[in-house]
Amino acid sequence: MNLTDKLNRRYASKMMNSLPVDDQKVENILEAIRLAPTSLGLQPFTVFVVKNQDMKEEIFRTAASGQPQIPTCSHLLVFAANRSITTEMLDEYFELINNTRNLPKEKVVTYRQLMDGLLNRSNEANFTWAAHQVYIALGFGLVAAATEGVDSVPIEGFNPKALDDLLQLEEKNLGSVCLMAIGNRDEEKDYNAKLPKVRKSKEKLFTEIN
Ligand SMILES: Cc1cc2nc3c(=O)[nH]c(=O)nc-3n(C[C@H](O)[C@H](O)[C@H](O)COP(=O)(O)O)c2cc1C
Repeated sequence: MNLTDKLNRRYASKMMNSLPVDDQKVENILEAIRLAPTSLGLQPFTVFVVKNQDMKEEIFRTAASGQPQIPTCSHLLVFAANRSITTEMLDEYFELINNTRNLPKEKVVTYRQLMDGLLNRSNEANFTWAAHQVYIALGFGLVAAATEGVDSVPIEGFNPKALDDLLQLEEKNLGSVCLMAIGNRDEEKDYNAKLPKVRKSKEKLFTEIN
């Protein structure tokens, strides 16, 4: 199967069969999320990987009761963006840059000055910006899952306040943005499994400027 075949095979699974996904496949999906690009490279988010069945059920009950994929998935990823950008986060990022790349000092100083601009923006603006980065990582995760032949579904239909309370995210300077359930489709119970894709035509979606 080529990439297009794999993307056609993927769909938003509404019901999974509770079977576990192979550890190596999960690892590959998480690695794709880790390698996703982010604005300025900051990666202003954390992903919780929930395998524990009691916790999946608790999340379903308290924050996402309309999403039967959650208790029946293998792993539930909770993408949580930073609520604010802090000097400590930037310090940590620059230490990582310094330890990873041997860049000339002037270059790092200019970059740091640019990034310090984030500290002058409102927490609301920075949270929105961080959430945008989450969605890119989510997209990488979805494509990686399709590539691995693993079923998945992105989930925005949940109560972020209830989930933040349950996972004590506010205390960690985090706010939940979206979820991604990964697992194995339940072909019999999932009405979505056999439906054809609904997508705009290429002509409608793309406008060529030659
Ligand atoms: C950001 C985002 C949030 C979504 N939230 C939900 C959700 O809460 N529950 C759900 O069942 N599907 C959710 N979906 C799945 C979409 O409904 C689905 O991707 C879309 O209808 C296209 O169908 P397909 O993915 O099966 O091709 C979401 C998709 C995206 C990208």
